Amino acid sequence: MPTNTFPNETGTAAAGTWRLGDRTVHRMGFGSMRLTADPDPATAIRVLRRAVELGVDHIDTAAFYVSPGGTLGVGTGPARYATELIRAALAPYPAELVIATKVGFAAADGELSEANGPEQLRAQVDENLRRLGRDHLDLVNLRIVKRAGRDSVAESFGTLAELRAAGKIRQLGLSNVRVDHLDEAQRIAPVVCVQNSYSLDHNRTDDELVRVCGERGIAYVPFFSLAGSRRESGASHDHSDAVHAVARAHRATPQQVRLAWALHQGPHVLAIPGTGNVDHLAANVAAGAIRLTASELATLG
Ligand SMILES: NC(=O)c1ccc[n+]([C@@H]2O[C@H](COP(=O)([O-])OP(=O)(O)OC[C@H]3O[C@@H](n4cnc5c(N)ncnc54)[C@H](OP(=O)(O)O)[C@@H]3O)[C@@H](O)[C@H]2O)c1
Repeated sequence: MPTNTFPNETGTAAAGTWRLGDRTVHRMGFGSMRLTADPDPATAIRVLRRAVELGVDHIDTAAFYVSPGGTLGVGTGPARYATELIRAALAPYPAELVIATKVGFAAADGELSEANGPEQLRAQVDENLRRLGRDHLDLVNLRIVKRAGRDSVAESFGTLAELRAAGKIRQLGLSNVRVDHLDEAQRIAPVVCVQNSYSLDHNRTDDELVRVCGERGIAYVPFFSLAGSRRESGASHDHSDAVHAVARAHRATPQQVRLAWALHQGPHVLAIPGTGNVDHLAANVAAGAIRLTASELATLG
């Protein structure tokens, strides 16, 4: 393992900010899915509070981030909801904090399932409000499953647009989508972000969507920027020679280079690396200060 000597306490300011709807957030945010893995909630609470101390003001979550039985499929013991851990750690919430959540799935009785009918979406919004302890949600992403022949987001996104008009939701986004989904949703209500799986060696077909989002002033928020194709299994340790070489040049870790690469894909790209480890959190935030040269970006691909 290379030694990480890159300064780890630089805070989020180095990566700059982006206007997410009517809010401004630092481009280095935090993903909360991993927090549920540790059976001791104190660990998650420590990570969340440290994130905010380091300047993180954009936290991604979902009511279906729960262990055991949610997206990670790990753990035993009583249910630990990321949304409730966020509330325990951070309420009363700092005014500048934007909590992004997502709907379209539900976790019940240890099973995660797609749930995107109007009543299901309304219930999920209410569940997020209840677990987070809020009277409105800052940002809700509609998380879809792409299927040939059943590709319209109109009904689901229309339901969220109604909830936005009613004041329960401030801003809307989309997750796991293509450009045609974005086009359709934008005809219904403003879209402030697209959250898709994307990293330097994974789902690069999204290069075009990253560009389209930039042109339209929409944030592109990659998830699995560390995990890549390992997805829920965790961080990739299979780094290319180019990643290792750039990491050595910056006295950084390969994971930091992966995050820096993501942030270099455009000023509208917002990182949400997930971790349940305070040291990893600090290293990830510090990666926002890495400046890659054009030739380094070319070698990273
Ligand atoms: N919209 C969607 O469908 C969707 C799907 C999945 C996730 N998400 C969101 O995106 C966020 C990011 O995804 P993710 O957390 O699954 O994947 P990720 O950020 O790509 O990688 C997380 C993995 O990397 C490890 N890690 C984090 N920082 C590290 C570091 N500095 N050095 C070494 N290992 C490190 C974590 O383990 P440790 O805990 O040990 O650090 C964890 O195994 C999630 O937290 C969630 O909020 C959205």
